[in-house]
Amino acid sequence: MSLDSISHRALSVIPGGVNSGQRRVPGLEQLVITATRGATFTDSRGDTYTDYHAAFGPPLLGHNDPDVDAAVAEAAAHIDLMGVGVTQAEVELAEDLAALIPSVEKVLLTSTGSEATFHALRVSRAATGRRLVVKFQGCYHGWHDSVSMNVISAPERVGRVDPISTGILPEVLDATLVLPFNDSGAVRRAFAEHGADIAAVIVEPVQHNVGCVLPVDGFLQVLRDETTRAGAVLIFDEVITGFRHALGGWQSICGVTPDLTTVGKAIANGYPIAAIGGRADLMDTFSSAPGRPVFFAGTYNGHPAMVAAARACLRKLRNEPVHEHVFALGEQIRSGLEEVFSEAGVPASVAGYGSVFVAYFMDGPAPQTYTDLLRNDAAMFLGYRRALMRHRIFELPLNLKRSHVSYAHTAAHVDELLMASRAALREAIESGGVADIANASTMGGAMR
Ligand SMILES: Cc1ncc(COP(=O)(O)O)c(C=O)c1O
Repeated sequence: MSLDSISHRALSVIPGGVNSGQRRVPGLEQLVITATRGATFTDSRGDTYTDYHAAFGPPLLGHNDPDVDAAVAEAAAHIDLMGVGVTQAEVELAEDLAALIPSVEKVLLTSTGSEATFHALRVSRAATGRRLVVKFQGCYHGWHDSVSMNVISAPERVGRVDPISTGILPEVLDATLVLPFNDSGAVRRAFAEHGADIAAVIVEPVQHNVGCVLPVDGFLQVLRDETTRAGAVLIFDEVITGFRHALGGWQSICGVTPDLTTVGKAIANGYPIAAIGGRADLMDTFSSAPGRPVFFAGTYNGHPAMVAAARACLRKLRNEPVHEHVFALGEQIRSGLEEVFSEAGVPASVAGYGSVFVAYFMDGPAPQTYTDLLRNDAAMFLGYRRALMRHRIFELPLNLKRSHVSYAHTAAHVDELLMASRAALREAIESGGVADIANASTMGGAMR
């Protein structure tokens, strides 16, 4: 049986043929991945692509990093899951995280970012005895009910509840207030009106689930001030920004310290481990402490091989010039893309930070709000990315998605990307972009 038929077999036993909603990408229904290596992946047709999707962000060191993989193999050879007690490596990882991330006094491990943000909201509600949480239009914090709304909303759904799933209790949807990112006035008004009921504000300090929207000066400080004044919990969801932008996360860059922080993705270069950490008084209310009331569990929490992956990854991030390398390449890509778009006469706003980049098909300065992003020409954005695939470059062809460089990318990859971009842009202009953007341009619209 040919590997191509795998995608057909997949359809009969896996809903939609893939194991995550965001892996069902229009135009890529036949895509079967057979190998990853460094800055590349290979598909079942034998085609190798330079990968800038990076599995939504984990492999900051590049795929199959030899040091991380060796640490996993070494751990797996002598210890696996026990489900009782603790290991020395878990303690050392927790000590590392507490030393690196300004807000983290104590820390608990989970397997995924969604679990970490779930627990962050639960402990916030428990600690404050309040009901409401605040999130921002364009932020994604995982798949659980309290935050499953208003990510990449269609224009007509901005400003009201826009669930990304059915099956959520209406009272849960009603307990989340969705505010515009970078709008300090809206935050102050929400606190003036609902402050006594707000348990937590959860925010991606840089909005990376819509590409790259940086916080404007003072915005994160307003979140800090308002939550402090109202006695609410401030949660920085650093599942993307953590370790990728700095070992101490965005909070170490912006100087605003939240009460709780969630991290994942780049912590272990692709192995499933994440964490929630923060103020000791909040963290000590989790039921891992005897008699404490906020239930916390997970069969795979602190899995030795995953902990080993995280420790090896953090060691490498600390000891090698990883950030220097990816930041330099990121800068070359962003300035190179600006040139490519301007030569072609195509309006573009090239945004990003460090290793992250995204070329929005719209004019004007870097976007600051979700409303700005509605000007992005999704048909061209998708058309360009699909054309890039013909040149063996992979940037995920879903609207607004960011791209990443890793330690395994080189200056030669950047040259190749810029050359391919020139050609892909011409092809996208000729074709007018993707005609059918349904299912690739928004994420939301689930009817209540
Ligand atoms: C900012 C942010 N928070 C949380 C999550 C959820 O993490 P996971 O997919 O590991 O559950 C994601 C995933 O993309 C994310 O981008």
